[in-house]
Amino acid sequence: CGNLGDLCPAWWPERISLTHLCDALEVLAESYEFKEIPGRCLAFRRASSVLKSLPWAVRCLRDTEGLPCLGEHSKAVMEEILQSGHSFEVEKTLSDEKYQTLKLFTSVFGVGPKTAEKWYRGGLRSFSDVLAAPGIHLNRMQQSGFLHYGDISRAVSKAEARALGNLIDEAVRAVTPDAVLALTGGFRRYRGKEFGHDVDFIVTTREPGKEEKLLTGIIERLKQQGLLLYCEYNASTFDMVKLPSHQFEAMDHFAKCFLIVRLEGGRVEGGLHGAEGDGRGWRAVRVDLVSPPMDRYAFALLGWTGSRQFERDLRRFARAERRMLLDNHTLYDKTKFLAATTEKDIFAHLGLEYIEPWQRNA
Ligand code: CTP
Ligand code: MN
Ligand code: MN
Ligand code: MN
Repeated sequence: CGNLGDLCPAWWPERISLTHLCDALEVLAESYEFKEIPGRCLAFRRASSVLKSLPWAVRCLRDTEGLPCLGEHSKAVMEEILQSGHSFEVEKTLSDEKYQTLKLFTSVFGVGPKTAEKWYRGGLRSFSDVLAAPGIHLNRMQQSGFLHYGDISRAVSKAEARALGNLIDEAVRAVTPDAVLALTGGFRRYRGKEFGHDVDFIVTTREPGKEEKLLTGIIERLKQQGLLLYCEYNASTFDMVKLPSHQFEAMDHFAKCFLIVRLEGGRVEGGLHGAEGDGRGWRAVRVDLVSPPMDRYAFALLGWTGSRQFERDLRRFARAERRMLLDNHTLYDKTKFLAATTEKDIFAHLGLEYIEPWQRNA
């Protein structure tokens, strides 16, 4: 508590770290996500995100006075943890069979809360239950999810992300020398030795209207090289004249693909993270590619760099403070399109100082 912190006795057994508090709030957020109560889920996500970026320690609730986005429920949970080291509600959630099962099922690529819930209601509790259950139809994405479960649930290291960057770059150059490739998503935000769950790239070309061809060309090339373990391709539904949505959309309209790529171990200095010893010499990695037209490149880059919470907050700021509409495609001031070739242009339109990717980990 600033100088009141001195009142905490020196023998106090464990300092409660911010990570501990954030993790607890994230558990509750996730459990409301499973229960499909988005309002409550978001409230806990916001609270956790505000704490995550705090530059000071939290020893008691007064240390969080004046912070935005901390609701009564979040505060009660924090108070309990700060005083006793535990939250009854969080512990109860963690030991709840339904929560545990839904967490397990949704960890499979292609399985969302709805499918997980359906399986749970059908009495299924484990992967072997699911795979042995008669009458369960797994779609192609879920089949790949189970097939490559071990690999794609293991974190992707920076070295692996770099190796993938080279591989994609090679494919891009082979299709057209005139392309622009950029790393986006978590790996663009992280500094230091962090890991991601997939690797995200934006790819486009200066030739108007050729960006979709480029994407299918890259996919074709990876396929020919035998590196494509899974591919879901979504053609563009982007409409140049459409105003941005008021809703925070999970999905934008650009051409994109969700891939599982075979990454050969020999390409990575120091071997593959976690894959040593099984003698395979390769691992599967989740890769996302999105391909906006060049004049929307900056909007797509800003939208895909994330984090999700940062994007939500930035859009809300645009709407509430500037009466503008921002999404992955565009920025509008009333009915006027505000063009941008870089992210800096977009921040300038919004009257904000530029925020570096590593500062967007909300
Ligand atoms: N995104 C999006 N539309 C999608 C998928 C993703 O706008 N269809 C954006 C999200 O805002 C997200 C970013 O792209 O912030 C990256 O998504 P994702 O790979 O899921 O998350 P990361 O932030 O990269 O984190 P992780 O390391 O878990 O991949
Ligand atoms: Mn990602
Ligand atoms: Mn993710
Ligand atoms: Mn992704």
